[in-house]
Amino acid sequence: MFQYTIGFIGTGNMGAALVRAACKGIGPQQVVVTNHTPAKAQALAKEMGCQVVLTNEEVVRQSKFIMLGVKPHILPEVLRQIAPVVKECTDQGEEKILVSMAAGVTMESIYQHLNLPDRVPALRIMPNTPAAIGKGMTLIHPECCKPELVDEFETIMAQSGRFDRIGENLADAAGAASGCVPAFAYLFMEGLADGAVMAGVPRQKAMTYVAQAVLGAASLVLESGQHPGALKDAVCSPGGSTIVGVSKLEEGGLRSACIQAVAGSAEKNKQLGK
Ligand SMILES: NC(=O)c1ccc[n+]([C@@H]2O[C@H](COP(=O)([O-])OP(=O)(O)OC[C@H]3O[C@@H](n4cnc5c(N)ncnc54)[C@H](OP(=O)(O)O)[C@@H]3O)[C@@H](O)[C@H]2O)c1
Repeated sequence: MFQYTIGFIGTGNMGAALVRAACKGIGPQQVVVTNHTPAKAQALAKEMGCQVVLTNEEVVRQSKFIMLGVKPHILPEVLRQIAPVVKECTDQGEEKILVSMAAGVTMESIYQHLNLPDRVPALRIMPNTPAAIGKGMTLIHPECCKPELVDEFETIMAQSGRFDRIGENLADAAGAASGCVPAFAYLFMEGLADGAVMAGVPRQKAMTYVAQAVLGAASLVLESGQHPGALKDAVCSPGGSTIVGVSKLEEGGLRSACIQAVAGSAEKNKQLGK
């Protein structure tokens, strides 16, 4: 019988962010972790107060939900490694739910690498790193899981932020819009802060002002439901300073670059799964 509600294989950037959310949500005593380099999992476990084990098989044996937090090219090897234990446990009537966060890797290929006679319930998710502080956006592809188990997963991970259940046919595209966008936003913010520094604002203050402005703008879009174009218009006074900045961004091709960035990441997601 499982001892922990959720176990993590791989505590890198994304895995660790979700470990933090799970520990806050259901308490660290229900969370177990492991990692290729054990010291990484041990440091996280020490910080969060959750348990650590030394092998991937042990995580499977001891957990109900098994989070696969390794890179897409490592996932097949991990699936082949844990498959016998998944079978042994499910043959004994235990419920095991596999949760993959690997970009581009389809449910079909997950089952192929597991190569088990019966399909265990599995979820494909696309989270992002702001999950560590409760501001994440996690897409859930729920096709291979009973709705009750998806509900349970959302409850366990409730402290990670928002969820949306969406068909796997949109995984690569929607995953680019949630998983990759934080990196684009950091780049944008770094550039804005550089501009403020160039204009004479001290670096630390520039970062704070820019980050709070971006946070406020994003919150306004979500909470007001207004189109970002309308909100932009409301900030641009005729003949004012903001519209000058807007025209500089357009000169630099900001919107076109954003379109290409998300579309390019979506395309790469598609290739990662092949
Ligand atoms: N980063 C993001 O924002 C993001 C967003 C959405 C989805 N994802 C997905 O999340 C997954 C992890 O990405 P990441 O950015 O967190 O990568 P990462 O920081 O490199 O983390 C991967 C972790 O897996 C560990 N690992 C490697 N082989 C292992 C094995 N055989 N058994 C157990 N652990 C193993 C690594 O340990 P060592 O370092 O000791 O080798 C590392 O800690 C990927 O599939 C990615 O597509 C990431």
